Amino acid sequence: SSSKLLIKGGTVVNAHQQEIADVYVEDGVIVAVKPNIKVGDDVTLLDATGKYIMPGGIDPHTHLAMEFMGTETIDDFFSGQAAALAGGTTMHIDFVIPVNGSLVAGFEAYERKAKKSCMDYGFHMAITKWDESVSREMEIMVNEKGINSFKFFMAYKGSLMINDELLLQGLKRCKSLGALAMVHAENGDAVFEGQKRMIELGITGPEGHALSRPAVLEGEATARAIRLARFVNTPLYVVHVMSIDAMEEIAKARKSGQKVIGEPVVSGLVLDDSGLWDPDFITAAKYVMSPPIRESGHDKALQAALSTGVLQLVGTDHCVFNSTQKAFGIDDFRKIPNGVNGIEERMHLVWDTMVESGQISVTDYVRITSTEWIFNLYPRKGAILAGSDADIIIFNPNSSFEIRASSHHSRTDTNVFDGRKGKGKVEVTIAGGRVVWQDDELKVVPGSGKYIEMPPFSYLFNGIDKADAKYLSSLQAPVGRFNSAS
Ligand code: URP
Ligand code: ZN
Ligand code: ZN
Ligand code: ZN
Repeated sequence: SSSKLLIKGGTVVNAHQQEIADVYVEDGVIVAVKPNIKVGDDVTLLDATGKYIMPGGIDPHTHLAMEFMGTETIDDFFSGQAAALAGGTTMHIDFVIPVNGSLVAGFEAYERKAKKSCMDYGFHMAITKWDESVSREMEIMVNEKGINSFKFFMAYKGSLMINDELLLQGLKRCKSLGALAMVHAENGDAVFEGQKRMIELGITGPEGHALSRPAVLEGEATARAIRLARFVNTPLYVVHVMSIDAMEEIAKARKSGQKVIGEPVVSGLVLDDSGLWDPDFITAAKYVMSPPIRESGHDKALQAALSTGVLQLVGTDHCVFNSTQKAFGIDDFRKIPNGVNGIEERMHLVWDTMVESGQISVTDYVRITSTEWIFNLYPRKGAILAGSDADIIIFNPNSSFEIRASSHHSRTDTNVFDGRKGKGKVEVTIAGGRVVWQDDELKVVPGSGKYIEMPPFSYLFNGIDKADAKYLSSLQAPVGRFNSAS
């Protein structure tokens, strides 16, 4: 891994164009992108003839070293990132969970967890309660810590869940800070009822997880969050869109001009819920995540929504527990830690499902796996341009991949995509100018990853008057219906 690299002869793909060119890298930064670059013999050459040179993937949704449901995810910032790099992802954005309600303490805890990072990362922040100090700390996060997005959980009653009052305060605060509000959209009170009903019926296995929180509850919460965001007049990002119900609410809002962003995750795009009915408990429990993986049909509809731009970028919600941890719920599905893998598999599965199938173009692929402007990372990340960070993959569309729990790089012992094969392969991953994945070999260095600060948004808030002078009245019934002013 020299500090100077020349990638020769490939097709360079950015979100809006592709061209045959060489890419020259020095000290972790792309210095030049043009045909026939000549260099000295102190430069490491990589031949990309017949292959694509693309920006490394950016996974906008992961949970590494997260304490959740009485345990901690088995992938930490080193093992999860190593898996990511082996699959062509070179940056991820993880969710900081506050400590005893303190955002600053939560941020510091995640800074410590991330010290062993081997690739670049950023943070979102979860908001799980509301008071003056949370409101104040949100400003510290945005103005001093490089966080520009906050997640509100409308589910997980009794732990992370927030009510509508808190969501409204949070939306208003996000707006005043120029930050993006994100929601986990499921009706947590109704899920709680659904779970009780399943247990009363004697349905205690993993299928009870899906049955207790049907798509209608995801649709309801998505619609509610969208309408509250409209009332406050602030942009909204819906994480892990798993159902047609939620997707259609997003489609409708976007059509009316509202700024709503929808993120499907790989599990929802390529799997259906059949695994949850497997008679072997562990086999079924590995599919337990929230919102649940839906019945067949939702997957294809989400793919179509991604190809038409109703949904904008693909995450993973990588949040893994091993078989021992999944077995906490052997007598009661409510105790199965929620979460599935995907950080290593996302780039291959999205290629095979979306590009190889003809649903999207290669430039679209770069846009939805890396370049979306959503988190204000472009053009430092998500681009093969002079001046961008040297986070690059060499992708061979004529090779193939196969996913195996026995050979993946995550620490978990199961894989929800086990046995899947498809066209295309990430042959080389370059992170921060260093070749970290080549010839199926991983060479990662703990501590080499950097924290990437994300500035508050300007483009997303274009046209939004933060003072709201006339906005509320514009939501009212047609002019002339009321005469209180006359
Ligand atoms: O099941 C899931 N999704 N686990 C991670 C936490 C979350 O809700 O994103
Ligand atoms: Zn575009
Ligand atoms: Zn969630
Ligand atoms: Zn998540």
